[in-house]
Amino acid sequence: MNNFVYHIPTKVCFGKDTENEAGSLLKEFGAKKALVHFGGGSVVKSGLLDKVCKSIKEAGIDYITLGGVVSNPRLSKVYEGVELGRKNGVDFILAVGGGSVIDSAKAIAYGIANEGDVWDFWARTRVPEACLPVGSVLTISAAGSEMSEACVITKDEGLLKRGYTNNLSRPKFAIMNPELTFTLPWYQVASGAVDILMHTLERWFDKKRDSAQLTDAISIGLMKTVMRNALVLKGNATDYNAAAELMWAGALSHNGLTGCGGNWNPPVLPGDWATHQLEHELGGMFEVAHGAGLSAVWGSWARYVSKDNPEYFAKLGKDLFGMGDGAAAETVIKKLEDFFVSIDMPVTIAGLGVTLSEEAVKELAHKCSFFGKRTIGSYRPLDAGDMEAIYRAAKG
Ligand code: NZQ
Ligand code: ZN
Repeated sequence: MNNFVYHIPTKVCFGKDTENEAGSLLKEFGAKKALVHFGGGSVVKSGLLDKVCKSIKEAGIDYITLGGVVSNPRLSKVYEGVELGRKNGVDFILAVGGGSVIDSAKAIAYGIANEGDVWDFWARTRVPEACLPVGSVLTISAAGSEMSEACVITKDEGLLKRGYTNNLSRPKFAIMNPELTFTLPWYQVASGAVDILMHTLERWFDKKRDSAQLTDAISIGLMKTVMRNALVLKGNATDYNAAAELMWAGALSHNGLTGCGGNWNPPVLPGDWATHQLEHELGGMFEVAHGAGLSAVWGSWARYVSKDNPEYFAKLGKDLFGMGDGAAAETVIKKLEDFFVSIDMPVTIAGLGVTLSEEAVKELAHKCSFFGKRTIGSYRPLDAGDMEAIYRAAKG
């Protein structure tokens, strides 16, 4: 097992009615004036925003609101939030929503706490010195941003979707009431389940993670739990226990736990992450749901790299699916794709409703390679040519 640091400062408040604790949690973390940030309206429609604001008012904390965050959140909204927050002396950002809202909140928090253009951090020309405190009331089990150090933003100009990781942005608290996810469309629930699975699976394909038995066991337990309960939710969208399992798995899958003992080289996360990088470009250019984008490209990535170290696929087949020793990579890949299909997720890009032209394949790979300046993935490093081949294979 490799050395690692595991420091997750996020206070989790989990269960029914916990959204009513928003005010007291803000108070506990010293907020004087909060920016309550939300998305395209689901939290207005469900009445959640009103409940949260009532709780903040009752705690005697001042607040302003800013909605309108879109999926694959935009830099233009971040700029708007930074300006509004500065003008109003905001000292805490509370996200009420999913990964997109939480990421937009984190980016605003960076923007208020640092002078200059906040995009510099995603462009990697500068690192932030500080970040305003962030908390969340989570409404979808998916991205894991509620406990993660990651923040993914799309620059409007050129539709560049980029992730940035820094412990400064780890949220102070996360309110997780599984009942808040009952209003989600099934497609979003399923897309979230894929994302949760992938956050652990990406960490599984880490060539330096030898003999991290406990981390492997946690990973397998988490992935089995997600697969089982996604299928329960397909049959019954309001099954509380299934929604609760998914919500807790979402937070643990991306808070670092399933990477402990891996290739620890901060700020680079242990694991492969090529599938995520390939998807981010798709999400930026075509506005697809992140998890659905992951299932659309994962199989093509896996087939492309599986000739290297096929024993990783065999181990996955044995531990996750109960296959015998030495299962062929293709059998394991197909089995996971079958699961994606069983929860109505696409296994090709065409399945996302996107028809990729050859020109788009090249543009995606060009952007994903940071214009030819980087490779992605650690299981097998991939250059722009490899990326093109994978997008082409995934086209459908
Ligand atoms: O905007 P509203 O109206 O709220 O609608 C949202 C949105 O359309 C809707 N929704 C959310 N909760 C709902 C609901 N509808 C009804 N009832 C509810 N309870 O669902 C849609 C998707 O929401 P979004 O926040 O975009 O989903 P998700 O949590 O999957 O976040 C995706 C974003 O997170 C990034 C992704 O790349 C993507 O941009 N990621 C962030 C990570 C991180 N910060 O650690 C890691 C991930 O790998 C990921 O890259
Ligand atoms: Zn993800």
